[in-house]
Amino acid sequence: MPEGFTTLPASGMDTATAYRLLCGIVVPRPIAWISSVSVDGVVNLAPFSSYNYVAHSPPMLAVNIGSRSGGLKDTARNIEASGEFVVNVATEANMELMHQTSAEFAPQESEAQALGIALLPSTHVKPPRIAISPVQMECRLQQVVRLGALNTLYIGEVLAFHLSNQVFDGKQIDSIKMRPVARLGGPYYAALGDTFLRPILQTPPVGKPANA
Ligand SMILES: Cc1cc2nc3c(=O)[nH]c(=O)nc-3n(C[C@H](O)[C@H](O)[C@H](O)COP(=O)(O)O)c2cc1C
Repeated sequence: MPEGFTTLPASGMDTATAYRLLCGIVVPRPIAWISSVSVDGVVNLAPFSSYNYVAHSPPMLAVNIGSRSGGLKDTARNIEASGEFVVNVATEANMELMHQTSAEFAPQESEAQALGIALLPSTHVKPPRIAISPVQMECRLQQVVRLGALNTLYIGEVLAFHLSNQVFDGKQIDSIKMRPVARLGGPYYAALGDTFLRPILQTPPVGKPANA
């Protein structure tokens, strides 16, 4: 065993410690700023950084939503009831408003309305898109995976990508121009720092779309 390490067995570790460790270790995390709609038609916005893309044919995204006071967060309840959500990219330009939508608004209160966040209609799902996000992805719920007592992974298939001309040239997304923000251990965020160019050494995936 090398000297100078603290070894903490995870078995039996309390929730707060495990959460704090993971949030500090798995960084930087991209942020899904999710729009969803309740059964009563209330538009809900909230950020989630336990998030990534998990498949590309068909394209799928996954987000882990923790429980709150033993119940579902508004986003989770809306996704389970409607089977739909939109993932909007969080950026330096929209970070302040994105952050404010993480406050615990009542389910009948719309973060979009309360904070004056402009929305755009979606084309494939009911939840609207967030206008100040340069990329919005409309998703249909594919799978719900319960993980232990407190977490649920929602896997959504992307039905449509909406890409601002500011960051999309017709072929590629310019990630640097997109100026995404990432989550570090709370309460910190990070912007892109140095970027490094290296030739791609593996063959990119090709083939017919699986959902054609
Ligand atoms: C940057 C950021 C990332 C977050 N990531 C997550 C996450 O991955 N999972 C989660 O359950 N909550 C996460 N939260 C907390 C939720 O945003 C917060 O619980 C929010 O109130 C949920 O809103 P809702 O009840 O409208 O769904 C995050 C908060 C912030 C500020």
